[in-house]
Amino acid sequence: MTNPTVAIRKARAADAPGMARVHVQSWRSTYPGLIPDSFLVGLSEPASAARWRSVVETQGSGQSALVAVDAAGAVVGIAAFGTRRGAIDGYDGEFYALYLLEEAKGLGIGRRLMAAMAERLLAAGLRSAFVWCLRDNPSRWFYERLGGVRVAERPIRFAGAPLVEIAYGWRDLAPLARLSAGPEVG
Ligand SMILES: CC(C)(COP(=O)(O)OP(=O)(O)OC[C@H]1O[C@@H](n2cnc3c(N)ncnc32)[C@H](O)[C@@H]1OP(=O)(O)O)[C@@H](O)C(=O)NCCC(=O)NCCS
Repeated sequence: MTNPTVAIRKARAADAPGMARVHVQSWRSTYPGLIPDSFLVGLSEPASAARWRSVVETQGSGQSALVAVDAAGAVVGIAAFGTRRGAIDGYDGEFYALYLLEEAKGLGIGRRLMAAMAERLLAAGLRSAFVWCLRDNPSRWFYERLGGVRVAERPIRFAGAPLVEIAYGWRDLAPLARLSAGPEVG
């Protein structure tokens, strides 16, 4: 199911507070039990907004961000992507982040954001991409549903905790880009 009242567009500096709200709320609903509580408690919307403002203001230099906005103009989903930050053989691009508010899940918005990112990576000349996801995050099945293939695994330390991440890859972004449905603006 898609939600036609939600539009996807390039993020703007004025979106930073809304992006931070989605980021913090999504982390607090997704990661309890996966990453240390102290880290989730310590998340700050103003600090997150400052980081998102800086991401948005440096768009174009190999990285970019999108927002999903509802009919009232509120940000309900965020996505960031660009050139890969670390090497995985055969992959050029990377999906850095994808987060939705709890109430925006299950409406096809995640699929549309992935398609919109794939479209823009292709337009920038990047034909493939991967995403890193915590192995214990149940949202990773979403990437499998969208055709991502497990291409790497790595142990990391995050906020002092030992964790495992899995990378899902798309060797050809064209089929993912074609999944787009609903209004894409700008
Ligand atoms: C992962 C996320 C972006 C998916 O967005 P969404 O809008 O809820 O997903 P969609 O409605 O577009 O679903 C697309 C398909 O994936 C499936 N899917 C979505 N989440 C799934 C899950 N957790 N497990 C299995 N399948 C899932 C849907 O059923 C749908 O399948 P269909 O093609 O049969 O209809 C969203 O759930 C989210 O924000 N999760 C929390 C944050 C997070 O973990 N982000 C990833 C960090 S690496």
